[in-house]
Amino acid sequence: MSAANPTGPLRHFLQLRDFSEDEIHYVIERARLIKDKFKRYQPHHTLHDRNLAMVFEKASTRTRVSFEAGMYQLGGSVIYLTTEGSQLGRSEPIEDTARVISRMVDLVMIRTFEQTRIERFAAHSRVPVINGLTNEFHPCQILADILTFVEHRGPIRGKTVAWIGDANNMSYTWLQAAELLGFTLHVSAPAGYRLDPLRVGQQPASVLREFDDPLEACRGADLVTTDVWTSMGYETENEARRLAFADWCVDAQMMAAAQPDAVFMHCLPAHRGEEVTGEVIDGPQSVVWDEAENRLHVQKALMEFLLLGRQE
Ligand code: CP
Ligand code: NVA
Repeated sequence: MSAANPTGPLRHFLQLRDFSEDEIHYVIERARLIKDKFKRYQPHHTLHDRNLAMVFEKASTRTRVSFEAGMYQLGGSVIYLTTEGSQLGRSEPIEDTARVISRMVDLVMIRTFEQTRIERFAAHSRVPVINGLTNEFHPCQILADILTFVEHRGPIRGKTVAWIGDANNMSYTWLQAAELLGFTLHVSAPAGYRLDPLRVGQQPASVLREFDDPLEACRGADLVTTDVWTSMGYETENEARRLAFADWCVDAQMMAAAQPDAVFMHCLPAHRGEEVTGEVIDGPQSVVWDEAENRLHVQKALMEFLLLGRQE
């Protein structure tokens, strides 16, 4: 038996809706407490002796550093694996990898391609599995984004979030957040790169509104956010996307259409002059550095919750 998760059933975090609204609020509030203690140099070693394996099948800066630093700060340790540096790169089945790794560590984070791949891993894992980004979802990033919004502007319920650009992993995770947490998501993407109606299903206008014109999508928004035109794994489409997305660059005019106190977010890495102007991302409404930092704090709360449950 693994020593992990002694207090309850095995839980994974493969997409945002694996958690209830209440659980998301708990993790956000716990992250604020953990962040506050960290800023005051108070130790918070709730995962002493626990070990996290991180499996990266795509590149990363923020996800790796935040999980690795976070686990050490909780008193635990990490093992860093890549496809090329492990037997995954030599065709060992993901199911066998899951069976083996999860007998040796307490928690696994994976960044990979198809959602089905992380689901297959989780189905054969004895310990909690965290989605560190797949083609379909990026739930840890959205936890950090919600925390950042709450810190700057208070509760997100009833607010409007404008997503400008590709219907990618981030946008679908924002959609799950809108459904779960009770805010409205405006989405504008060029033809050919819009949300897939089959994945979206029936959504009321209180949850999702789609716009042809990105400026209209920004109108009245409390938060404007975007992402790279080409996500990892889609690089062969680079040139076609560069042409298609030319008008989907978040600029000062779009921010002026949003609420006067709207914040700008970007999960990073950013390409100034493509999906966002330097004026916006480096301007006074941008909270992207707090957003990046909050990956650290919210993932500490997430790992603690998956292994120990609520700490109230
Ligand atoms: N935002 C994010 O996940 O960044 P990395 O790709 O650097 O991990
Ligand atoms: N949508 C981007 C996010 C990177 C953190 C990608 O998948 O590459």
